[in-house]
Amino acid sequence: MTLSKRKFGRTGWNVSEIGFGAWAIGGSWGSVGEDDARAALNAALDSGVTFIDTADVYGDGRSERIIRDVLRERGGERPIVATKLGRRLDPHVTSGYLNKHALEGFIDRSLSNLGVDTLDLVQLHCPPTEVYYRPEVFDAMDSLVAAGKIRFYGVSVEKVEEALKAIEYPNVVSVQIIYNMFRQRPAELFFREALKKNVAVIARVPLASGMLTGKLSADSVFAADDHRAFNRHGEAFDVGETFSGVPYDVALKAVDELRGLVPVDASMAQLALRWILMEDAVSVIIPGSRNAAQAASNVSAANLAPLSNATMQRVRDVYKQYIAPHVHQRW
Ligand SMILES: NC(=O)c1ccc[n+]([C@@H]2O[C@H](COP(=O)([O-])OP(=O)(O)OC[C@H]3O[C@@H](n4cnc5c(N)ncnc54)[C@H](OP(=O)(O)O)[C@@H]3O)[C@@H](O)[C@H]2O)c1
Repeated sequence: MTLSKRKFGRTGWNVSEIGFGAWAIGGSWGSVGEDDARAALNAALDSGVTFIDTADVYGDGRSERIIRDVLRERGGERPIVATKLGRRLDPHVTSGYLNKHALEGFIDRSLSNLGVDTLDLVQLHCPPTEVYYRPEVFDAMDSLVAAGKIRFYGVSVEKVEEALKAIEYPNVVSVQIIYNMFRQRPAELFFREALKKNVAVIARVPLASGMLTGKLSADSVFAADDHRAFNRHGEAFDVGETFSGVPYDVALKAVDELRGLVPVDASMAQLALRWILMEDAVSVIIPGSRNAAQAASNVSAANLAPLSNATMQRVRDVYKQYIAPHVHQRW
């Protein structure tokens, strides 16, 4: 079965409904060797993936450079490569985003890392909320499109409120947001608004940092340079990016409740990805994969039959009972 494609908002692109999240092949997930990183990306592309998400800060450019090298070696039709900017600002504050010269510098670096003349899609990388209220930032992005350095731009947000504000800007073509069985709020209002405005939605952290694979336990140990060790309480960046911000013990209990829903011959990770595909507003899901086996298995989630109403209801119930009190009003 070939991987189905979905419309990517107003861009005219159709992209594979399952893409490739390239954070882990850059850094912050313990050590992922060069061979595994390349094999993971190749396995995804071999399975029909045509959308890759990366950022200039993943491994300080390592992720972008691995993507450049793998795509050069493979030749042929290029997938869409979305990258992000803003997190190189130090301190990471609103005034940095008001400096067009700085933004252009980040873009030039990504152009060089990715080895292209124009970037397909650049996303503001979870900027401070205030940035969404500064039209001059979006004007600057418009001028970088006009200059031919970027084809399109979008945003990657932490909060639903930021997503709703961002799509008021007419040239924001995409919103990347955490959406998974532990983060259901985007479906309440934001997805309907995104559909109305024909804005693409990129669903990130679909496996709640690996929690929704069902493989973790109270005894799991993470390397010191894995964010699941060093950002468990938001020490380095928004705590919502690590296990979707759900306390570890609560997440384990909820995962146990979900185990009975896993279809025969499928994995919990595949169930988690298939659950996201049930939502029409989602253009592409970007599971992170650190080796070829994970990448291939994640793509094959698209082969699962649509989930039953009973399964969808049970996932809602588990979310309401265990997860919502910890995350619902926060993000
Ligand atoms: N602020 C932002 O814009 C932002 C933030 C976060 C993520 N993202 C993007 O979203 C992408 C996805 O999010 P994520 O990587 O944070 O989280 P994720 O996709 O929820 O989880 C990825 C991790 O789960 C484990 N895993 C993946 N597939 C598996 C499988 N089939 N079986 C068992 N384990 C599996 C792997 O880690 P282990 O094997 O080590 O468990 C992998 O690194 C990122 O790569 C990045 O592109 C963007």
